[in-house]
Amino acid sequence: MLRIAVLVSGGGTNLQAIIDRIADRTITNAEIAVVISNNHGVKALERAKQADLPACCVSPKDYDDRAAFNRALLETIDAYAVDLIVLAGFLVVIPEEIIDRYENRIINIHPSLIPSFCGTGYYGLKVHEAALKRGVKITGATVHFVDKGTDTGPILLQKAVPVEDGDTPESLQRRVMEQAEWQILPQAIDMIANGRVR
Ligand code: GAR
Repeated sequence: MLRIAVLVSGGGTNLQAIIDRIADRTITNAEIAVVISNNHGVKALERAKQADLPACCVSPKDYDDRAAFNRALLETIDAYAVDLIVLAGFLVVIPEEIIDRYENRIINIHPSLIPSFCGTGYYGLKVHEAALKRGVKITGATVHFVDKGTDTGPILLQKAVPVEDGDTPESLQRRVMEQAEWQILPQAIDMIANGRVR
């Protein structure tokens, strides 16, 4: 059984998709060992509680400096003996010590077709604002392994989604979530849990 830590920052709709797909056995051989948020009081933590999952908050605000926060985050993940870290809308740069310790065992969902609209400064709604500003007609989402760059690791899955006339960043974000993110993130976890990724 693959033990997963799901790291979140806000709404947690991707976390919910993972919870639901484990419940209906679309994802097999995997369990959520812990949900960790960097923000207190977010909806994602409520979703974890609702699903009876171990959950906690490790916020930079509760530590004197970044190094102390980084250490606490690593210690928390280690304490749950996880095999895979899933960044499901986790809007914190992952410290190098975590990437070293969990090499090839961290995946991230990004709301565009990498290499478009990714890297530093591209997260959440900003990605969709940039896609609309550029006028692309197709966007989508990507699941990739995390390396020391920002959104530069090996790509595992991508799914395209059409941009429609009159889209706002919010409407586009919703379509990308529904048609791509909530499908390919659970799919990637199932592939890893069942040994279909080298
Ligand atoms: C998702 O759209 C995810 O792809 C994005 O944040 C949102 C979180 O939503 N992540 C990034 O932009 C990472 N660079 P959620 O909390 O409802 O899952």
